[in-house]
Amino acid sequence: MSALTTEKLSETVGVKILGVDAERLATDEDLPGQCLELLERHSVLLFPELHAGDEAQVAFSRKLGPLASFPNFPNEHVMIISFDPDNPNAKYYPSNDYWHIDGSMDEVPARASIMSAHVITEEGGETAFASTYAAYEALSEREREQLAELRVIHRMARIQSRTFPNPTPEQKADWARFPDREHPLVWTHESGRRSLVFGASASHVVGMDFDRGEALLEELQERATTPDRIYTHTWSVGDLVIWDNTGLVHRACEFDRSLPRRMHRSTLVGQEPIK
Ligand SMILES: [Fe+2]
Repeated sequence: MSALTTEKLSETVGVKILGVDAERLATDEDLPGQCLELLERHSVLLFPELHAGDEAQVAFSRKLGPLASFPNFPNEHVMIISFDPDNPNAKYYPSNDYWHIDGSMDEVPARASIMSAHVITEEGGETAFASTYAAYEALSEREREQLAELRVIHRMARIQSRTFPNPTPEQKADWARFPDREHPLVWTHESGRRSLVFGASASHVVGMDFDRGEALLEELQERATTPDRIYTHTWSVGDLVIWDNTGLVHRACEFDRSLPRRMHRSTLVGQEPIK
């Protein structure tokens, strides 16, 4: 097994992987296992300017685990993230601007995402990441005890109303199609590690005054996402980034949505429910 050369991207999250090109991505049979180990440890892996292409991205992603399907898109294992008028999911993408876990409305959220930059804007459009393992580790013993048993309601309307505070009846009806989801605030992973579960979908804390619960969730998120605790990736065309969706929150940074920007994302399906 040839060792991978890595470079830290920030104190708590992310490594850059050097010396891997599209050829090595396709042929190095040790690489998927090494990537999964690095992902567990660093949460975000960056392959700079890899220019993988959809087929190579999907082929490599399959080696990491089973893939989610997106039947609305030409390649069912590649979701296209863009604001093009013909993009079937475009109406949901503005909420990506808020810190979130992909699939937090599901019982089992996605395991990881693999995303390549195809078209980028000159300004903005970065993706920011913050470790929710580090968020838990930064709590005091007393806070850990206080939060241990709390459960949180996650709600589609909570996510979407951040972008659309005055929804139309059609929007409200659309959001109501998604049932609420209750998750513990502290996720004890099968590995034994613990992380916090918060983000755009987190609405309130079960059994706690609504405003107090909302304030607690906001405070935990703020502390976890201070500038010294995040990695903000400025994309170059061809960059491929893999993130562990289970121990991390992420968000898209603002850009001019009238300009073209296109990211291609594959998703590893989740393996364990939040518990
Ligand atoms: Fe996302």
